[in-house]
Amino acid sequence: MDHSRLSMPLGEAMFTQRSIRRFRPDPVPVADLELILEAAVKAPSGGNSQIARFLVVNDRDLIKEFGAVYRDAWWAKRLDSHGWTGPEDIPEADRAQFGPAMRLADDMATVPCLVFVLSVGSHQPESVLPAAQNLMLAARALGIGSVPTRIHPSVEDRFRAIFGVPQDVTLHFAIPLGYPAGRFGPTTRRPTWETGYLNTWGAPLPWTP
Ligand SMILES: Cc1cc2nc3c(=O)[nH]c(=O)nc-3n(C[C@H](O)[C@H](O)[C@H](O)COP(=O)(O)O)c2cc1C
Repeated sequence: MDHSRLSMPLGEAMFTQRSIRRFRPDPVPVADLELILEAAVKAPSGGNSQIARFLVVNDRDLIKEFGAVYRDAWWAKRLDSHGWTGPEDIPEADRAQFGPAMRLADDMATVPCLVFVLSVGSHQPESVLPAAQNLMLAARALGIGSVPTRIHPSVEDRFRAIFGVPQDVTLHFAIPLGYPAGRFGPTTRRPTWETGYLNTWGAPLPWTP
């Protein structure tokens, strides 16, 4: 596989990769999907078990069908976590945090492309998640935005029915892909000196202020 098109500096890809939830309608070229999946399968897995599977969906009708499932799933999660049943239940103070994800719940039906990250065999998300990150970084290097999303268990059977996914296959992420309507850019993260230690748990890193 010719990976020369993934020539964006790794640092640029990692440091500008933020969640993209609004997409232009342009389709993702099949050649780009191939490269993105090739990057995903390069990720490590326990014992090189390679249990990750990728279901790529670019069929408009299927995406629309899944959009309705995803919307129900998003609100089922909010009901569980906050007791919210609709937009009117979200307090003003929470709108900035939940607004973009809520909008994605409405827009999922029209995203240009979806990749479901799944696995076969034993339930080992740790052997799947590196592949999902590779996938999203490769997409970023091609100018394609993404966001990892998870669905609520209450809609899982509907998901399986739409795409013919057997019960013994585990779903980890639903990742929409497309060219961003907005921009890539910096993210807000805790400083490393708050989340990292040197030699002993709790001991400060040399660059701790
Ligand atoms: C395990 C996991 C689950 C996530 N689930 C969702 C989701 O269901 N819906 C969504 O819009 N974003 C989801 N995200 C994206 C996070 O909200 C996002 O990475 C985080 O808020 C940081 O945003 P940023 O990368 O734009 O800075 C998820 C991310 C992870 C790692």
